Amino acid sequence: MCGIVGYIGYEQAAPLLLKGLEKLEYRGYDSAGIAVYDGSGLEIYKSKGRLKILSDMIEGGAKVKGTVGIGHTRWATHGEPSDINSHPQVSDSGRFAVVHNGIIENYMSLKEYLINHGVEFVSETDTEVIAQLFEYYYDGDMLDTMLKVLAKVEGSYAIGVISQEHPDELLAVRKDSPLIVGIGEGENFIASDIPAILSHTRDIYRLEDNEIVALKADSITVYNMEKEVVSKTPFHVDWDVSSAEKGGYEHFMFKEIMEQPEAIRKTISPRLKNGKIVLDDVSLSKEDLEKISKIVVLACGSAYHVGMNAKYILEKIARIPVEVDLASEFRYRDPIIDESVLVLVISQSGETADTLAALREAKRLGARVISIVNVVGSSIANDSDDVLYTWAGPEIAVATTKAYSTQLAVVYLLALYLGEKRNTITTEQLERYVKGLENLPNQIQEILEHQETIQYLASQYFNSRDIFFIGRNLDYSMSLEGSLKLKEISYIHSEAYAAGELKHGTISLIEDGTLVVSLATQDMLFDKMMSNVKEVKARGAVVLGLTTEKHKEIEKTADHVFYIPSTEDILLPSLAVVPLQLFAYYVASMKGCDIDKPRNLAKSVTVE
Ligand code: F6R
Repeated sequence: MCGIVGYIGYEQAAPLLLKGLEKLEYRGYDSAGIAVYDGSGLEIYKSKGRLKILSDMIEGGAKVKGTVGIGHTRWATHGEPSDINSHPQVSDSGRFAVVHNGIIENYMSLKEYLINHGVEFVSETDTEVIAQLFEYYYDGDMLDTMLKVLAKVEGSYAIGVISQEHPDELLAVRKDSPLIVGIGEGENFIASDIPAILSHTRDIYRLEDNEIVALKADSITVYNMEKEVVSKTPFHVDWDVSSAEKGGYEHFMFKEIMEQPEAIRKTISPRLKNGKIVLDDVSLSKEDLEKISKIVVLACGSAYHVGMNAKYILEKIARIPVEVDLASEFRYRDPIIDESVLVLVISQSGETADTLAALREAKRLGARVISIVNVVGSSIANDSDDVLYTWAGPEIAVATTKAYSTQLAVVYLLALYLGEKRNTITTEQLERYVKGLENLPNQIQEILEHQETIQYLASQYFNSRDIFFIGRNLDYSMSLEGSLKLKEISYIHSEAYAAGELKHGTISLIEDGTLVVSLATQDMLFDKMMSNVKEVKARGAVVLGLTTEKHKEIEKTADHVFYIPSTEDILLPSLAVVPLQLFAYYVASMKGCDIDKPRNLAKSVTVE
């Protein structure tokens, strides 16, 4: 997730922008840059890597004179992290500088159009298109030009623009990407988050989607898309900087749980066009698709659990046999891999050593590799034949939540894409699944709005010694994830079992009062699950049932129930994971654990 800061006023902009960007470092970034109007033109400084490199380059800002400017920390999406791809992006003539968070979905066609009209591009970014469109449509008025540019771009964005033609003005706009306006005296600010400007002002406007703000040193005017002035009510921030970084939440993990609807929307919407799955990022030809003999999924930890879901989903939709391997085991079992095998690698960081090593081994054996990765330009992304990026933004909490959810969303997209290409699903089924997929963010939102129910349940069981999770089929994969989430952050011992396997041994661990979280979301297996629930109840277990709204009869057996909305069976894991994440979070919080940095764990595991 990139960070934006903009300033117009009486102070030197460059040092102020650098300080603001520093406060956004927590969001994760791979490069940074600023643009400042120096009295005659726009001065641009950008650099790949840490902010310190940029800061040293411009002597902490002292080297750049001017009182209006924009700054940016970039988290690469289109184009690898590099000086050129960093923001601000500048138009051909150098008159317009743009910073942007989000994704311009139709940038390829706009770029092509502009190139055909003689515009020269220097970067691989979607953002450069915005800067070039400003130049192309500029008619002497910044607001009019902004409206013309916005009429062309599709996607999500928070944009800040300055121009040497209007150095007394800074324009910004948002759609599906956060942007705030800081209200000062004789100076005003924009930022993608409050910490960036908190040392200058605590009075803020939150821009809504499709609102454009025109800042001058002594005025702020907000317009809608019809160019009408919108009246806004400011709010006063009374949080401290550290909670402001977490969006007012106590932990990054909670913030990231709450960000899931948005992250999934960002991941799927560029890939759904008129009810069809469009995976421009996958270059498999018809022949390649026909020759796939099996899919092998390689991943670790939670990403491996996504892989377990992927087995059920891909086999059901694309009718291709799927094996799932822990990346750390794969290399040491003499795997049967050749050119007919499609290897699917899943990794948030793109740097997990075991996963990277397994990927390289698979490639050495001749497999074609598609990866699902969150970090652009990471080692796994670089070594793969094709990359399907999750657009979750940086994940700061060690325990993954939004990356997991977006990985799963990509698995659905891939399964439906393969199913459609291989004619293993009908047009009608595809339509139903696509509709279900599009509805997931709203359904997750609905679950998040019932967080107090989970909080209450956590308050009843946070002192447990052992907690079990059981389920069948997709609910088994979800049990593994629910159990991992709980144990890694709350340090409570937990086991996940395939419900039918309990009676082969594990059931001996159930004692009076042991909590068994029983997942029963799959219609087809509901009755079977109820038999397993009765088995543990008969041994004294307390049962927390997780099912869909249509299975109210679970109340006869379970002690507590949490309902999730109904959808297609294969999509239910996307909903079921949310209460499991919240349960782990609240239990850990009630135990006073260090939630974002659990003991002994690291975010990116770069050792084998
Ligand atoms: C658990 C968790 C880990 C990661 C695993 C793989 O909450 O985050 O189990 O899923 O370390 O990491 P990536 O996805 O970066 O390869």
